[in-house]
Amino acid sequence: MPSIIITGGAGFIGSHVVRLFVNKYPDYRIINLDKLTYAGNLANLSDIEAAPNYRFVRMDICDFSGVLALMNEEHVTGIIHLAAESHVDRSIKDPLTFAQTNVMGTLTLLQAALAYWQSLPEGFEGKRFYHISTDEVYGALSMTHPQGIEPPFTTTASSGSHHLAYGEAFFTEDLKYQPHSPYSASKAASDHFVRAFHDTYGLPTIVTNCSNNYGPYQFPEKLIPLFINNIRHRRPLPVYGRGENVRDWLYVEDHARAIDVIFHRGRVADTYNIGGFNEWKNIDIVRVLIQTTDRLLGRPEGADMDLITYVTDRAGHDLRYAIDSRKLQRELGWEPSLQFEEGIERTVRWYLDNQAWLDNVTSGDYQRYYEQMYAGR
Ligand code: NAD
Ligand code: DAU
Repeated sequence: MPSIIITGGAGFIGSHVVRLFVNKYPDYRIINLDKLTYAGNLANLSDIEAAPNYRFVRMDICDFSGVLALMNEEHVTGIIHLAAESHVDRSIKDPLTFAQTNVMGTLTLLQAALAYWQSLPEGFEGKRFYHISTDEVYGALSMTHPQGIEPPFTTTASSGSHHLAYGEAFFTEDLKYQPHSPYSASKAASDHFVRAFHDTYGLPTIVTNCSNNYGPYQFPEKLIPLFINNIRHRRPLPVYGRGENVRDWLYVEDHARAIDVIFHRGRVADTYNIGGFNEWKNIDIVRVLIQTTDRLLGRPEGADMDLITYVTDRAGHDLRYAIDSRKLQRELGWEPSLQFEEGIERTVRWYLDNQAWLDNVTSGDYQRYYEQMYAGR
């Protein structure tokens, strides 16, 4: 029976991955290993917490002996590693924490997996260490086109109807790493360690690099949930710089489906980019968020445009991200299932319907609750 540790399962993307695996694979043992930092919230998983194939373990991925003991106890056959410090703005203020969790934490997990699986008679057979990374490791793309065409323009790279390309280039799997923020530098370092463990020890690893995710349960420090909440409460919307930066957005459940496909059918030692060919300038997305939120709240559509407030740009702000995910589409048949318009509508509706969740995670009550619940353990 597969026994899988999913790290960071109480966070945004991790909770969708845990839910998918617990529901889809009743014969698998799913162990959610999470430290419950400010970004981890067990309320994200209240619908599956009693499932017989699910177990939550509060643990730091930097705890080598704890992870090793858990792998022994649960006869772990696979690791899907999402736990990380994930917010770029926090990494600018506190890079050490990012190095600790994202680099040392990943290295600790690799070392524990290596030690445990090497100790088994069958070794690495049937084992898999799947590391979830980001497109930010590739750096930033430009907004130019060799033929002088003014962006946005459509390209043949798209399989979707909503694709806008703001430049000629995309992130492909063979691109050299050029991270700019402490966050992306720490993720790049962790990716290198994962590949080094394959090349040096033969550990069966896979790395994927995904574009910006959006959807339910995202911590409201990130653009989309922060702005939906601010629009609801008629608070200013702090747009960095001129709002010209481009991000490539993917609905979180589509990312979780990609992780499922790649965990089961991806080639060991390989890398896959995951993205929806769905580029948006920040300012355009902010306008869509305002229109959608206004409409769902019964306000005149666009009434809250005056909340847009241009603020000092993020330091080292990457101009454009755009993922080329054709390898994944071609080799494993994965495609995003949701059009952006539908995904945004669902997302705005979810945050408006779950104001209690937002209030809870912004008040810090849930952190105090976990501190009490786990005190002394
Ligand atoms: P998140 O911040 O919402 O969740 C991170 C989770 O990791 C939390 O539950 C937190 O408690 C846990 N965690 C943090 N430090 C830990 C530690 N030391 N030990 C154990 N658990 C710890 O993050 P997210 O947005 O869901 O991102 C998940 C992963 O996906 C990250 O590795 C991130 O780099 C990657 N990623 C995110 C995006 C995105 O758009 N959010 C896109 C591509 C890749
Ligand atoms: O590309 C994948 C990455 O996407 C992930 O690896 C990261 O974990 C995830 O946080 C995300 O990084 P970004 O920095 O792109 O996401 P964020 O939501 O912080 O910002 C999206 C864009 O919006 C970015 O260009 C900065 C801008 N922004 C963000 C905030 C929070 C604003 O203009 N104002 C804001 O208040």
